[in-house]
Amino acid sequence: MNGIVVTGGAGFIGGNFVLHWLGQGLGPLVNLDKLTYAGNLQTLASVQDNPGYTFVHGDICDAELVAKVFAEHKPRAIVHFAAESHVDRSILGPEAFLKTNIDGTFTLLQAARNYMATLSEEDQKNFRFLAVSTDEVYGTLEPNDPAFSETTPYAPNSPYAASKAASDMLVRAWFHTYKLPVLTTNCSNNYGPYHFPEKLIPLMITHALAGKPLPIYGDGLQVRDWLYVIDHCKAIAAVLEKGTPGETYNVGGNNQRTNKEVVHTLCALLDELVPDSPYKPHAQLITSVKDRPGHDRRYAIDATKIEREIGWKPEETFETGLRKTVEWYLANKEWVEGVTSGSYQQWMSANYSHRTGAAAEKAGAVK
Ligand code: NAD
Ligand code: TYD
Repeated sequence: MNGIVVTGGAGFIGGNFVLHWLGQGLGPLVNLDKLTYAGNLQTLASVQDNPGYTFVHGDICDAELVAKVFAEHKPRAIVHFAAESHVDRSILGPEAFLKTNIDGTFTLLQAARNYMATLSEEDQKNFRFLAVSTDEVYGTLEPNDPAFSETTPYAPNSPYAASKAASDMLVRAWFHTYKLPVLTTNCSNNYGPYHFPEKLIPLMITHALAGKPLPIYGDGLQVRDWLYVIDHCKAIAAVLEKGTPGETYNVGGNNQRTNKEVVHTLCALLDELVPDSPYKPHAQLITSVKDRPGHDRRYAIDATKIEREIGWKPEETFETGLRKTVEWYLANKEWVEGVTSGSYQQWMSANYSHRTGAAAEKAGAVK
C-alpha cells in the first residue's frame, strides 16, 4: 500500500503533478483519466515507460471501473484532479460539469469508502482522499475585501464554480457522516507548462506568437491571484503527508494582477524573448471583446493556514514563474500544435465569434 491513484492526471495540473511525483521518486502512481479534450498523453510521454507509472483510460463516473482500479492497485491515497475546468465552457454547456464534477466525485467517494473498508486498521488510519478544488467556490471580491480564507462562505457564481462547490460539499459530508479521511485544497488560478491554450495565459502566449488578436474580456480590470503550477503540486504533496483529515487548505501565489497587467507583462516578455518577431510590439495585438456573463471581478487567496500548519509557501514570484512559462511555450511548440488542432478550432469559434461585436466599441479601453 505505498502507491497513490490520481484522477485527471493527463490534464494541466494533474499532468504536472504526475511528473513532479514520479520525478521526486515519491512512489508508484496510477493515473485514471478519460482523456477529454483537456487530457493529453503527450504531457506524460517522459514517464510512460516508468515502472512506477500506470495509465488507466476511463471515466470517474464509471463505478465498476473505479472500484476495480482501487482493488487492484491498493492505493494509500486518492488525489482527485479530474474535472471539467473551464468557466467559459461551463457557460456554453453546463451538463458535462454537473456530470463529472458532481457525479464523478460522488462515485469516487463511494468507491473510496468501500475500498477503505477492506483495509487493515493500520492502513485505514493512513488512507487519505484529497480533493483538488478552486477559490471560485467563494464567489467574487470587491477591491478592498480581505482575501478568501478557509472560513469564507461559499457563494459560487458560474456553473463551473457551482459544480465544484457541490463536489466540495459531498467531500465534506463523507468525512462527517462516513469518517472518510478527506482533505480539500482550494487553490487560485494556476499557470505554467502544459496549460491548455483555452485559458488566459497560454491563450495569450500562443495567439501572440501567431500574430492573432489577444482578446481581453470587458475592461480587463478583473483580478486573479496567480499560482505557479509546480508550487501548487508541492502544496498538494505536502497536504497529503501533513494535512489533518476533514480540514481544507487554501493555496495561493500571493500574486494578484489584473488581466490587463498579465497580458501586458506577457507581451513585454515576448518582445524580449522573440526579438525578431514580426508582431512586435506584441501589445498592439490586444483587443477588447465582449465580457463573460457573470464575470467574477476579483479572486484572492489568504494562504496563511497552509504556511502555518503545513509549512508550505510559494517559491516562484509572478515574474520568475511567467518567464519560465513563456520560455516553456517557446521551447515546446510541438506540444502546442498537438493540442490546437481539430476540436480546439471549433471551441475558438464558439467562444469568440459572438464577442467580436464589442471589440470595435471598446478597443482602446484596455490598451
Ligand atoms: P484540466 O481541464 O486541464 O484537466 C482535467 C483532466 O481531467 C483532463 O485530463 C481530463 O481528461 C480529465 N477528466 C475530465 N473528465 C473526466 C472524467 N469524467 N473521468 C476521468 N477523467 C476526466 O484541469 P486542470 O486545470 O488541470 O484542473 C485540475 C483540477 O484543479 C480541477 O479539479 C480544477 O477544478 C482544479 N483547479 C484548477 C485551477 C486552474 O487554474 N487550472 C484552479 C483551481 C482549481
Ligand atoms: P481563465 O484562464 O479562463 O480562468 P478563470 O476564469 O478560471 O479565472 O480566465 C482568467 C481571467 O482572464 C478571467 O478574468 C477571464 C479572463 N479572460 C480574458 O479576458 N480573455 C480570454 O480570452 C480568456 C480565456 C480569459
